[in-house]
Amino acid sequence: MHLTKEEEKILDGEQGEIKAKALRILKTLGDIFHADKLIPITSTQIAGISYKTIGDAGLEFLEEWARHGVKVVVPSYMNPSGMDLHEWKKMGVSEQFAQKQMKIIKALRSMGVSPTCTCTPYLAGIIPNAGEHVAWSESSAVVFANSVLGARTNREGGPSALSAALIGKTPNYGLHLEENRIADVVFEVSTDWPNLNFSLLGYFIGEISREKIPLIRGIKRASWDQLKSLGAGAAASGGVSMIMIPGITPENRVRSKAEIIPVEQEDLLNVQAKLSSTSACSTLAFGCPHCSLEEIKEIITLNNPNKEIWIFTTKENKEKIKNIPPNIKIFSDTCMVVSPIKEMGINCIGTDSAKCAHYSQNLSKIQIVLRSKEELLNAN
Ligand code: F3S
Repeated sequence: MHLTKEEEKILDGEQGEIKAKALRILKTLGDIFHADKLIPITSTQIAGISYKTIGDAGLEFLEEWARHGVKVVVPSYMNPSGMDLHEWKKMGVSEQFAQKQMKIIKALRSMGVSPTCTCTPYLAGIIPNAGEHVAWSESSAVVFANSVLGARTNREGGPSALSAALIGKTPNYGLHLEENRIADVVFEVSTDWPNLNFSLLGYFIGEISREKIPLIRGIKRASWDQLKSLGAGAAASGGVSMIMIPGITPENRVRSKAEIIPVEQEDLLNVQAKLSSTSACSTLAFGCPHCSLEEIKEIITLNNPNKEIWIFTTKENKEKIKNIPPNIKIFSDTCMVVSPIKEMGINCIGTDSAKCAHYSQNLSKIQIVLRSKEELLNAN
């Protein structure tokens, strides 16, 4: 990958050891993926914030970078941490975990990263324009940015997003290039299908698409909430970073010889069965990805007082909700996957998110019931 004279100087350490390291990370990535150059970005969204997922090694890495006094040069935002930064005691998070988590937040803040702690920055007003290059790392947000907003980002890792934040650039490859934004596989959903579950559909198409871009035919309408669920599911089961839906997403191009795969209701029920390990849980957890205001209101309206209900959302949404029923708790800055849920005494959750079901079984080793929001809230 070609570097400008200015970038060469950074690589040689003219702006310090950490910026040189950051540039080396970007250069290595660029060389691996045959990028021609670094291109300017307008924002970064950095994953790997929870102490549960990055542990002491991640904390030390961030503190080491922060110690050198480096600062981000473009607006940069954090993905969810391991706890509600204010109400972690109410969640049942231990003092020891909380201290480590706060150190991670402190290190990132000192570099200028904003503690948004959400996987849905677009629900918190962070909305890049179509065609804008960004470096985001939360996989569901990456799908949303590319597919719904028409912005351009690869699926960054935490360190590459932080490096991009410090340099203000990212290697020009993958979904930053027009020629790669084309679907290789087509899914056909029958048009008379009521109550299509977008989370299950996403998981199903992700498993088949892997790293390819899927295009879905047969969907006439989809809300932002449905599209965020679709993208989260597809990114969890595969490496999907962009989805096309004619009539809904801004970019829709498909290769002439793309494989066409019909989607049957049974396919989605199979996903649901595969990701469920039990049939009932007393705790329900919603907000993977983080709930919108409309979703929170819907859950409160459908409330089942026999269940303990946890809702995860953005700070902004949390502040807006008043008069919360006693069995419902609303938390921000975190989620049921990246918080230390087992240590908090929860061994089983009902979720409407295929992504949550996938990671909770693998990462948290807890029991899962995967059903629609309505089914979960109507169950005894
Ligand atoms: Fe967001 Fe946590 Fe799900 S970060 S997409 S709520 S796993």
